[in-house]
Amino acid sequence: MASSASTNTPVLNGIAAAASGLEGFDPAAGSLRDFVHTRPQRVEDRAADFEAWRSARENVGYWPYAKYLVEPPRATTTLQHSDGSRYSGVNFATQDYLSLSTHAAVKAAAAAAIERFGVHSAGSMALAGNVHESLALEASIADMLQMKHALLFPTGWAAGFGIVKGLVRQQDHVVLDALAHNCLQEGAMAATRNVYRTRHLDLAHVHSTLASIREKDAANTVLVVTEGIFSMDADAPDISALQAMCRHFGATLVVDVAHDLGCTGPGGTGEIGLQGMLGEVDIVMGSFSKTFASNGGFIATNRTAVKEFVRAFAPTCVFSNALSPVQVAAVGTAIAIIRSLEGEGLRKRLSVAVAALRDELTTCGFALLGKPHAIVPMIVGTEAVGRRAALEATREGVLVNLAEFPAVPIDRSRFRLQVMSAHEPEQCRAAARAIAKAVARSSAAGFALS
Ligand SMILES: Cc1ncc(COP(=O)(O)O)c(C=O)c1O
Repeated sequence: MASSASTNTPVLNGIAAAASGLEGFDPAAGSLRDFVHTRPQRVEDRAADFEAWRSARENVGYWPYAKYLVEPPRATTTLQHSDGSRYSGVNFATQDYLSLSTHAAVKAAAAAAIERFGVHSAGSMALAGNVHESLALEASIADMLQMKHALLFPTGWAAGFGIVKGLVRQQDHVVLDALAHNCLQEGAMAATRNVYRTRHLDLAHVHSTLASIREKDAANTVLVVTEGIFSMDADAPDISALQAMCRHFGATLVVDVAHDLGCTGPGGTGEIGLQGMLGEVDIVMGSFSKTFASNGGFIATNRTAVKEFVRAFAPTCVFSNALSPVQVAAVGTAIAIIRSLEGEGLRKRLSVAVAALRDELTTCGFALLGKPHAIVPMIVGTEAVGRRAALEATREGVLVNLAEFPAVPIDRSRFRLQVMSAHEPEQCRAAARAIAKAVARSSAAGFALS
């Protein structure tokens, strides 16, 4: 392998060892970050260095992208790993919080849409990619949030990137919670160099940041960006305090409700509903991929002008195909269920399953983050223990995902367990005990890969 990458970090030394067939390479060490700023002459060499590390991880079963579903993402399912081994078990590895992706009515609506329109959207929104039902879906999302308008995007990522990049110009400012999702961070960095990351959920820090921006620049736009429920920590900001601050400083608030809309709050209205802020937030942005049984995203606003401006200037709206009629039909039916009595029942079931899982994990001695929610973040520890434990848990019949550095701080790797309404409380308790066994085995003194 031709490589001009620096070898002055432990992981790259490890890679050099692996590449030359020496012993001692550690697939439990290192992170994606080690490969971002290597300085080879040719980009192929950067990729080759990364590949040496990645394939070593895959060979021992530590590579997250090397697994796929061979059954629907139900409460129990089967994953296949790239070496051909199959693992069946309790599924906390996929996100379908109200179990709507396999709901009979949702599947029937999708099938009917295929009959009517075929399987594809035939262009971007500007090129007749929408169907009448797309507009009806926008109206029903807006109605759910008590906002006047909504605008669809092909994915939640596209909505997050698009809302920031579409609204913000070089001279403007974006203030982000440090844990805001990648789509929001990337949108901010693509739009301006004036990006400020505030300490997670720290209102005082947002306040002082806004004050110092306004001291220097009273003229330009400031966007403040947060999430309804944070996807790695399952905690929520004080939305009303942030909105009040934005009004005070002449800033605009964006709240990403990807993980809470539909699965929490009165009528599924998420944290905004729970906090009594329906219709009051400047801009709401969300994804359908967690609770609404489809890929897709949206933004919602009370102003026609903002909707049309975003439609025209968000690159992910202008230059990407519209949501397909099949996706539109699935989401439309999911919303109807979410807002019905059946939806209330599903949310109740979900909260009972979450309570059982959190309770048993706590009894087993684990530190959990956040509040009771479909995401249950459970601290495992170092990346080495986390990687091993994720594999061990899978072998124990509990399918989990590991969130590790740089997505979360170093040595704070965690299982991001994602619960759904189809999980039974007893199943969750048994799974928690199996996880405890897997982590204990992975932390044992004999296990010393790192
Ligand atoms: C907070 C948050 N926003 C946006 C997204 C992107 O959503 P999608 O998966 O629909 O692209 C995600 C998904 O990971 C998310 O967690």
